[in-house]
Amino acid sequence: MRKVLYPGTFDPVTNGHIDIIQRACDLFDKVVVTVAINPTKTPLFSVKERIKFIADSVQDFPKVSVDSFDGLVVDHAKNIGAIGIIRGLRAMSDFEYEFQMALMNRKLAKKINTVFLMPHEKYTYLNSSIIRNLASFNSDVSDFVPPIVQEALKIKFRK
Ligand code: COA
Repeated sequence: MRKVLYPGTFDPVTNGHIDIIQRACDLFDKVVVTVAINPTKTPLFSVKERIKFIADSVQDFPKVSVDSFDGLVVDHAKNIGAIGIIRGLRAMSDFEYEFQMALMNRKLAKKINTVFLMPHEKYTYLNSSIIRNLASFNSDVSDFVPPIVQEALKIKFRK
């Protein structure tokens, strides 16, 4: 059973994240998507909401489960018996941060490797901040996020 952990803030989950989850499912037996409780970010959606959006969007992926964690990502990976950490690489601008994080995580837990996956080109310019920003101006985000997220954003920014 080759289990991997896909950590992120997912505020909210986008089609770019779903694309990465799909690719991870092609390679591994079990993919645990985990919502980080990150004290350095002030999320728009609660952890419970973010978990719900992901769970709803991966209903057709039997290999996927969703949870949350507070602490070090490598500790959570060890606790659930994951052999690796999945991260998406969209562009060169992601590389430096991801490289540093992957090496530090490897220093902390030698046996847990980071696996980088590239989303489809059409998602390379996406991130959650851009989605939140567009939605705050009532712009259509239906091409970029799952339907449940689109609805939640509409409600969140409705006057
Ligand atoms: N499609 C669309 N957007 C994507 C994406 C993809 N495939 N991959 C990443 N992104 C975006 C995210 O939406 C997010 O956008 P935002 O900053 O505008 O909200 C951004 O890229 C950052 O990605 P995210 O996956 O949320 O990473 P993060 O920088 O918030 O880090 C953890 C999340 C969980 C990996 C990190 O906080 C962590 O490891 N925390 C635990 C503490 C720890 O272990 N520290 C030691 C690390 S060495």
